[in-house]
Amino acid sequence: MLVGDAGFDGLVVKIEFSGVELQETTLIAGAGESWDGLVARAVSEGLWGVENLSGIPGTVGAAPVQNIGAYGSEVKDTVVWLEAFDIETGDMVRFANSECGFGYRTSVFKKSPGRYVILRVAFELKKDGTPNSSYKDLADTSRLNLDEIRAKVLAIRARKFPDLTKEGTAGSFFLNPVVSPEVAAALKGRYPDLPQFAAEGGVKLSLAWLLDTALGLKGASVGGARLFERQPLVVVASRDARAQDVVALAQKIKKEVKEKLHIEIEEEVRILD
Ligand code: EPU
Repeated sequence: MLVGDAGFDGLVVKIEFSGVELQETTLIAGAGESWDGLVARAVSEGLWGVENLSGIPGTVGAAPVQNIGAYGSEVKDTVVWLEAFDIETGDMVRFANSECGFGYRTSVFKKSPGRYVILRVAFELKKDGTPNSSYKDLADTSRLNLDEIRAKVLAIRARKFPDLTKEGTAGSFFLNPVVSPEVAAALKGRYPDLPQFAAEGGVKLSLAWLLDTALGLKGASVGGARLFERQPLVVVASRDARAQDVVALAQKIKKEVKEKLHIEIEEEVRILD
């Protein structure tokens, strides 16, 4: 979430519900628990399912909102149920996985902003799991144990994201675009090395590759905001950046992608301006 330079005229509540409970292979955690703390706990208990999601900043309650994902795993693969407070009706509601409307970086919680406050989430994990080596960066992990996989994911992430103690980032700023097979084929003709993946509703394209190789936009900047030199899908903001710098940079990138590649791209970050 990016808050505008003028601030936010309203009440901001930071969710700090804590507590983690293990019932056989189900981990139930308060929404305010650290996501990575929960992953560390699962790994230390020898439970499989969330290890590829190591090192993602944020809380347990935020994870289902945009169905966080990395390295071939998404949080929707392990969520069994979650409890939320419905601000519209005043009711406590329990959502089963199938009721969460999970998709690529989306859910019913993201689609109805301001309606649900997630309070607790339950994750079903596995005692005798196997590595999910489907993503190319983790292709050589098929014989690794849980601790080794977590260490490997943390090392990859350390190379791909800025040092959060020095600069700000929300990770990927845009979604990877999902286009029709015809558009994907035309782009493949123009850029034979462009990574493409089958996705719900079409073909997912690597926007990082397009920004880097097709458009040469690594390091493009507006004021204190720029596309990260080691991963151009990631926007980084220096300490003196204004929210407006980030918004203007995003507009510039969207325009360039539209004009040169004829693709509409969408922000992953929610802008409160
Ligand atoms: N690439 C380049 N140049 C670069 C970096 C990457 O060309 O400088 C190309 C490479 O071909 C690389 C490809 O882009 O193979 C994909 O890069 P990466 O593995 O970093 O994945 P991504 O598609 O850019 C997505 C998620 C990340 C997640 C990674 C790993 C989205 C919007 N982003 O990024 O999630 O960590 O995959 O699974 O889907 C996030 O959502 O905030 C996030 C960080």
